[in-house]
Amino acid sequence: MHSNHDHLIMEARLQLSQQTFLNLLNSDQKNLSVEELNPSQMAHLYINSALLSTVMEFLKDHLWLKKRDDKELGIETSYEEFILPLFKNELAPLAFIKDYLVESGPTNFKKVLKETQGIETQVLAAVLSSPSNYQKSFITQSLTEMSEHFKNEENNQQGHIQSLGHQGLCLYRTFDNLDDIFDLDYQLDLDMVVDHNTKERLYQRSGVGVQSGYSTILLALENSDLLPNSSVVDLGSGYGRVGLVCSLLRPDIEFIGYEYVPHRVDIANKAAKHLGLEDNLSFKAQDLSLESFKIPEADVYYLYDPFTEQTYKYVLEQIIEMSKRKKVTVVTKGNARNWLSDISKELSWPTPLFIDEGNLCIFKSA
Ligand SMILES: C[S@@+](CC[C@H](N)C(=O)[O-])C[C@H]1O[C@@H](n2cnc3c(N)ncnc32)[C@H](O)[C@@H]1O
Repeated sequence: MHSNHDHLIMEARLQLSQQTFLNLLNSDQKNLSVEELNPSQMAHLYINSALLSTVMEFLKDHLWLKKRDDKELGIETSYEEFILPLFKNELAPLAFIKDYLVESGPTNFKKVLKETQGIETQVLAAVLSSPSNYQKSFITQSLTEMSEHFKNEENNQQGHIQSLGHQGLCLYRTFDNLDDIFDLDYQLDLDMVVDHNTKERLYQRSGVGVQSGYSTILLALENSDLLPNSSVVDLGSGYGRVGLVCSLLRPDIEFIGYEYVPHRVDIANKAAKHLGLEDNLSFKAQDLSLESFKIPEADVYYLYDPFTEQTYKYVLEQIIEMSKRKKVTVVTKGNARNWLSDISKELSWPTPLFIDEGNLCIFKSA
């Protein structure tokens, strides 16, 4: 619980950070220094610049559609009539730059986008040159802030028909550049020599595409009801983004990721060590399809489309066996839920929780 005094201080800090962001947008000088701004202020600048870049792309597409519809209906919507209602939902978090966006108008969309991308680049460069404890606080604060935006997005999406896909502002890839601070080198993935002999589904050369989006990870964390000191296992952990995010926000949990591709494991472990998370977070190179390997007991298993049909069957059999001895939560992203849906019904598990437009599905054993 925050006292009224704490709340007032937080509000004042927020206003100061918002003002700094506005000043930067309006100035040609974008030099930022970690000596002058603390991690929380830098996080605020990063989140708002990344968010505004996505917003500018969204406004461009949305305005184009509006004009097309207007033409068909023989009407004309002014820019103010177009943009102001958006501040009631999608743009609500950017209310503090409402005047700026209204004044800059549609002819300046490209310019605003360039400005915001410039701020984002400067922030990340400044943070990258800072000590690891500054970086750790910056990432943690950025994740906390982005979590609020994803909740907002999830609320705005509720009531939309899933089969029509995401409607409105989509933040799935907005904060991907945060990976620069984790130093997740996707070039190694893009340069990898494709192994055509493996029967496993390795997403070779996928780069950032092999990872769950920050929105998925944060929504999963928010909705998994992790008890203190819980254990989490990521089956097919890629570059380790899920573990890194979970460990930063929940240092009490024990997280292990298993991954087939060695360079992904090395990079994930390096990031964990750099941020001092290695006591509770580790990644291991392991082919999970091998019958010689037994999945360790955990409270939560995370599965983002990792396996072939055969490997799913083998891995899920082990988790089901475990669920007869202890309660387990299985978080699935993408098609992975299909493998568990029928089995969970047969076992009379409660109806799973569908979030992120059904992309994320959380099963809990009976
Ligand atoms: C779609 S990615 C998900 C990465 C991560 N869990 C996330 O959500 O960000 C699936 C990962 O599973 C790994 N994988 C596939 N088959 C595997 C196996 N038999 N053993 C271990 N990992 C495997 C792939 O190499 C890939 O990195």
